[in-house]
Amino acid sequence: MQKSKDLDFKIFKELKETNNYLSGQNIANKLKISRQAFWKHIKNLNDCGYKIEAIPRRGYKLKYSPDKPYPWEIRYKLGTKFTGHNVYFKEKIDSTQDFIWQLGQAGAPEGTVVLAGKQKKGKGRIGREWVSPKGGLYLSCLLRPKKILLKDISQIALVIALACIQAIEQETGIRLSVKWPNDIFLNKKKLGGILCQINAEADKINFVAIGLGININTKNLPEEATSLFLERKNKVSLVAITKKIIGKIEQRYLELEAGKSKELLEQWQEHCFLWGNRLRVKVFDKVIEGEAAGIDQEGYLLVRRDNGLTEKISSGDVTKVM
Ligand code: BTN
Repeated sequence: MQKSKDLDFKIFKELKETNNYLSGQNIANKLKISRQAFWKHIKNLNDCGYKIEAIPRRGYKLKYSPDKPYPWEIRYKLGTKFTGHNVYFKEKIDSTQDFIWQLGQAGAPEGTVVLAGKQKKGKGRIGREWVSPKGGLYLSCLLRPKKILLKDISQIALVIALACIQAIEQETGIRLSVKWPNDIFLNKKKLGGILCQINAEADKINFVAIGLGININTKNLPEEATSLFLERKNKVSLVAITKKIIGKIEQRYLELEAGKSKELLEQWQEHCFLWGNRLRVKVFDKVIEGEAAGIDQEGYLLVRRDNGLTEKISSGDVTKVM
């Protein structure tokens, strides 16, 4: 299986990097595979929506690539140390989050990524459903932090939101904002969200499963949500944006592991639109109301109540009170 995945990547790379026609025989020799095996991989690419021109005695030329985050597309010139090197794409899945969890339990390497074209049972925060039609980005990533302590784990979710925001801003030039802990907003509407699930025992973190759902080219969305396509009236390359996000996740995560939480949380705060506003925060059955006062060094939300006391909130659902 791994060999076949590697060949998919190597053949795709050869096609991408050949301006002229690629000789089937030469490439089969180079990769030490049979002509039939080579042809099987070309057929697979065709079945995936690529258009590969085949001219007898000249060879093969890549004419068109669909904008889908196939593993070979993601790995090609990704430029990360480990994130996205082991990558899966499923056209349709129940939840990428369930899949990455299984991979995490089976010992998959740090930086493993699962992507899907759509999800049938997408999971949101606080037990909600994440409706996941075609056109969106559905990504789960496996992290195995070594330096981050369990008590500081909330910082990961915040830093991943920062990474996504920075990647999308750089790729599109659009300014985004964040609502604590990690809802991504564009023009006062929700563009995406992040689910962070932890597998830990006592105070040892086994792994963290990060799930991102971002409305990229999604067309039909409820009133309170938006997509990059709906705002720009133009399609955004899902492949390009996915690669950018993976790259930024790794950068910001490595900075966090290197002890740079203070600087990262400051950058996160600059993107947050809640400060000074009156908030209502639902924490399980309890509702806390007050003014958004900031976050502490662990990433907890600080809410100043009318009686002057400040509440420290580790997780909850925030709404602005008008
Ligand atoms: C939120 O509620 O704001 C977080 C939504 C997270 C959705 C993503 S989509 C990819 C991954 N797989 C899931 O089932 N959920 C997360």
